[in-house]
Amino acid sequence: MENSIFIKTLKGEKTERPPVWFMRQAGRVLPNYLDLRKKYSFEELMHDPKLATEVTLMPIHDLGVDAAILFSDILVIPEALGMKLNFTDSGPRFETALKDLSDPISFLKKDASKLEYIYEVIDEIQKTKHADIPLIGFCGAPFTTLCYMVQGLGTNHTFPDAVTLLYKDKKLAHKLFSAITELSIEYAQNQIKHGVSAFQIFETHAGLIPEELYFEMVMPYVRQISKAVMDTSTPCIFLPKGLGAGLRNIQEGDCDFISVDWQIPITEARKILPASIGVQGNLDPRLLMADQSVIEAELNKYLDFGAKEQKWIFNLGHGFIPGIPYENAKFVVDWIKESNWNR
Ligand code: CP3
Repeated sequence: MENSIFIKTLKGEKTERPPVWFMRQAGRVLPNYLDLRKKYSFEELMHDPKLATEVTLMPIHDLGVDAAILFSDILVIPEALGMKLNFTDSGPRFETALKDLSDPISFLKKDASKLEYIYEVIDEIQKTKHADIPLIGFCGAPFTTLCYMVQGLGTNHTFPDAVTLLYKDKKLAHKLFSAITELSIEYAQNQIKHGVSAFQIFETHAGLIPEELYFEMVMPYVRQISKAVMDTSTPCIFLPKGLGAGLRNIQEGDCDFISVDWQIPITEARKILPASIGVQGNLDPRLLMADQSVIEAELNKYLDFGAKEQKWIFNLGHGFIPGIPYENAKFVVDWIKESNWNR
C-alpha cells in the first residue's frame, strides 16, 4: 500500500498529482457493469463474492481510478437490525417502515451475522486485487440510514417523517441513532480487520435539516464512528452532503478528510475547514453529461488549487448518475492523471 497515491494523500504525504476515484464508480456508468446487470440483480451481485469482487475492481480496470470501493450498500445496516429490504427498480424499499410502527425499538432485532457475507466479499477482493490497490470500506452515517428506515423507501428524497421525528420525539431518535451507531462501529471495525485501507461515512442527506440540529443530534454519533475508524489508524473520510455553511463547525479530529459537494467551491471549503483535515471533491456529476470541451473547461479551474493543495482527492460532489457517458468518466480520469500539476 506504500505505493498508493490515494493512501499517501490521505496520510498527508506529498504526491505528484491528486488521486482520483468516484462515488458510485462501479454501478451505473460502466458498460461492463450494465451488461452484468442484464444477467444478475443488484442483490445477486453484492452477495456473491466472485461477482462482487469483479464489480468492485471493474473501475480500476475500466476507468483507471486510484482506489476501489466495496460493492455493497449502506442499507445492509438496517437489514442486520432486522428490517426486510428489497431493491426495486424504483430504489430500495423496506417491507415495514418505522414510521408505521408504535414501538420501533422492540421491532428491531440486531443480528450482526447478517453482515458476515460482506466480510467474505472483502476477503475475496483482497485475494484478487493487486496489493497496491486500496479498497475503501464504508457505511451510511446515522441520519441518512435513519431516513430510509423511518420512511421505508428511497424514492421520497425529502424523508418528511424522518425529519419530523427529530423534532417530535428526540428520545426515540436518539435510541435509533444509538442502535445504528453501535452496529455501524462493529461493522466498520470488521471491514478494517478484513483489510479495507480507508473508510468513508456517507451522510447523503445532511442537507435536509438545519446545521444546528445536525451538530446537536447527529454529529456526536458520526464522531463515535469516525473515532473508532481512526483509532485503528485507518484514514476516515466523511461526506456530509448539503451541510453548506455548517462545514465551519467541523473540528480537527472529526475525520481525516471531508468530501465536499458541488454547492461550495473547493477553495472555500478548504478555507473553512481546519488545516489538518483534507478535502475530497467536488465536480458536479451532471457536468459529465456535457461535451468534453465543456468538462475540460471546468477541470482547468482546479489546476491552481491542485498545484498548491496536497491534501486533496479529486472526486465528484456526489455519485455518478445513470446516463453519464462512460467515455466522459474516462476522460476525467485521464485528464487528472495526465495534467501537469506543477507540484
Ligand atoms: O460504486 C458503487 O456503486 C459502490 C457501492 C455503493 C452502492 N451504494 C451500490 C448501489 C455505495 C457506496 C452505495 C452507498 C449508498 N446506498 C448511499 C450513500 C451514497 C450515495 O450515493 O448517496 C445511499 C443513500 C444508498 C441507498 C441506495 N442504494 C439507493 C437510494 C439506491 C437506489 C438509487 C440509486 O442510487 O441507484 C440504491 C441502489 C444501489 N446501490 C445501486 C448500486 C450500484 C443501483 C443498483 C442497480 O440497479 O444496479
